Amino acid sequence: MTDQEPDRQDGQDGGVLGRVADGPVVVTGAGGTIGTALAVTFGSLGLRLVLSDYDEGGVAVTGAQAMAAGAPEVRIVVGDAADPEVATTLVDACADWGGPAVAVFNAGIFVAGLVWEQPIDVWRRQVEVDYWGPVHGVRAMVPAMLERGSGHVVAVSSGAGLVATPGMGAYVSAKHAVVGMMESLHHELVRLDAPVRASVVCPGLVLSNLSDNSLQALDVDPEDHELAGVAAEVDATIRAGVDAGAPAQTVADAVLSAVRDGSFWVLPQPEVALGALDRYRRLAEGGPPVDLL
Ligand SMILES: NC(=O)c1ccc[n+]([C@@H]2O[C@H](COP(=O)([O-])OP(=O)(O)OC[C@H]3O[C@@H](n4cnc5c(N)ncnc54)[C@H](O)[C@@H]3O)[C@@H](O)[C@H]2O)c1
Repeated sequence: MTDQEPDRQDGQDGGVLGRVADGPVVVTGAGGTIGTALAVTFGSLGLRLVLSDYDEGGVAVTGAQAMAAGAPEVRIVVGDAADPEVATTLVDACADWGGPAVAVFNAGIFVAGLVWEQPIDVWRRQVEVDYWGPVHGVRAMVPAMLERGSGHVVAVSSGAGLVATPGMGAYVSAKHAVVGMMESLHHELVRLDAPVRASVVCPGLVLSNLSDNSLQALDVDPEDHELAGVAAEVDATIRAGVDAGAPAQTVADAVLSAVRDGSFWVLPQPEVALGALDRYRRLAEGGPPVDLL
């Protein structure tokens, strides 16, 4: 079986994670909106957590919220998700808890800009965090989970990982690459009949402060981030869409459900799947690419 969801029940200990034996859950970008919802959701199941972010204050607040929700213990790793040594540190932080059971690579940044105009350092940083972050995470976590005999790695991509939109070429590239990498990983794990599964999450718009957080993370003064024309329009559309976006809990609930049932695709909002269908219908028919914005 190489092209289906796995039908075997890994772990099978009947714990709170179902098919994955209970154990610590790692969340990167845990100081942010979706990261907080993930930490609180897994913490409320009574699981130990390893939370990471480079925002020391933000991740500390999340840790306190997760403990209040029921997490028995929380460890915090402050560091850059684009750094492979931080990924290794996250594995090490789980070692005396039996190794990582679940790891969610959620840290991400987004900065609007046209493909030929976005400064190359801003472009490169999005690829480092949004693409290389999950790659380093997978390469550190999967061997530890194979050794543990059970596990699930989850990468947070985006609807922008399935359908390209204008004004966000760097983000779209990185998020598409994450989908491709995770799909390859899924096939590898299934072919190996490994007790580890993979999921990719493609949320649509989610209520958060991603745009401003990202400018701050890149040390870009919003005053200096002057966009014009199409880039400004797209930036405004995305900011308005995010302001009216789905609650982060929608994403956290979908991730938990995927960990429990082992499904690969996690599309918390149905409109994302419809956009992807439209993309491939046009591709098959030779039509122009779909622009969801
Ligand atoms: N908000 C949306 O509409 C939306 C939609 C689709 C996908 N996503 C994805 O969801 C994920 C979480 O985004 P969010 O909406 O919660 O935004 P957010 O800004 O609230 O959270 C992102 C978190 O990641 C952290 N972070 C960023 N770069 C980091 C790095 N290099 N190292 C360590 N931590 C880092 C930030 O400090 C922040 O706490 C991102 O990957 C984003 O691309 C968001």
